[in-house]
Amino acid sequence: MPMRRKLIAGNWKMFKGLEEARELARAIAQGLEPGPDPDVAIFPAFPFIAQVVEVVSKAPHPIGVGAQNLYPEPEGAFTGEVSGRMIRSTGARYVIVGHSERRHIIGESDALVGKKVRAALDLGLIPILCVGEKLEEREAGNTLQVVNRQLKAGLDRLDAAKVERLVVAYEPVWAIGTGKTATPQQGAEVHQAIRSEISKIATPAVADEFRILYGGSVKPSNIRDLLAEPDIDGVLVGGASLEADSFLELCRAGRTTGGTG
Ligand code: PGA
Repeated sequence: MPMRRKLIAGNWKMFKGLEEARELARAIAQGLEPGPDPDVAIFPAFPFIAQVVEVVSKAPHPIGVGAQNLYPEPEGAFTGEVSGRMIRSTGARYVIVGHSERRHIIGESDALVGKKVRAALDLGLIPILCVGEKLEEREAGNTLQVVNRQLKAGLDRLDAAKVERLVVAYEPVWAIGTGKTATPQQGAEVHQAIRSEISKIATPAVADEFRILYGGSVKPSNIRDLLAEPDIDGVLVGGASLEADSFLELCRAGRTTGGTG
């Protein structure tokens, strides 16, 4: 049985001003008990990444910081965009790519998402590639088809050595910010399908070590049941990551010991 260290990721979306972001980062840094796991990462809005990196730099338990998006070109005349190179220069290590809000509100295509994944990997950032079906797609029985399409496009032209360095988050669109969580079984079914696809795209050994997060209304009351599924290797959390207390509780649930205190 491979030991995949859990990853608890907090996506702050378009919430928190500078002082609030620093305060939340400080409270998380101070509240996390040191230990071998889980991996913890937080994703503030672009303008505050550097300050948040600074705030968490001396935390007793390491905290990774990431961006919520990137533009695939390193630099140039792309008004309003932020490149992976710029993100990297702040000390951030992660980047969320293809979040459903970017796919469905901003209109990002599968092909653009694939370019972003490649750009992030080339720069040494760890991309968290998000995939997930809409409600009508699930109801039409197309969940696995949609997820596989997004996965293939997201991992297009990557060799096994690159695939190994990324993380996938399965986030059913109907579960994001709605209070409706997929059941652990619904999550597990898709996670297993993703792992078997990774095994084909890369190798079975890469698939074994590969981390697949679940996202969509994860909160302290449901995280333990989700993480009890062997194929769910962590969570990507929006709402419940915006308060230190609930995020710290999610992090505690991600410890191997299943620690309660
Ligand atoms: P939620 O968001 O936890 O608020 O549902 C999850 C996400 O969008 O990553």
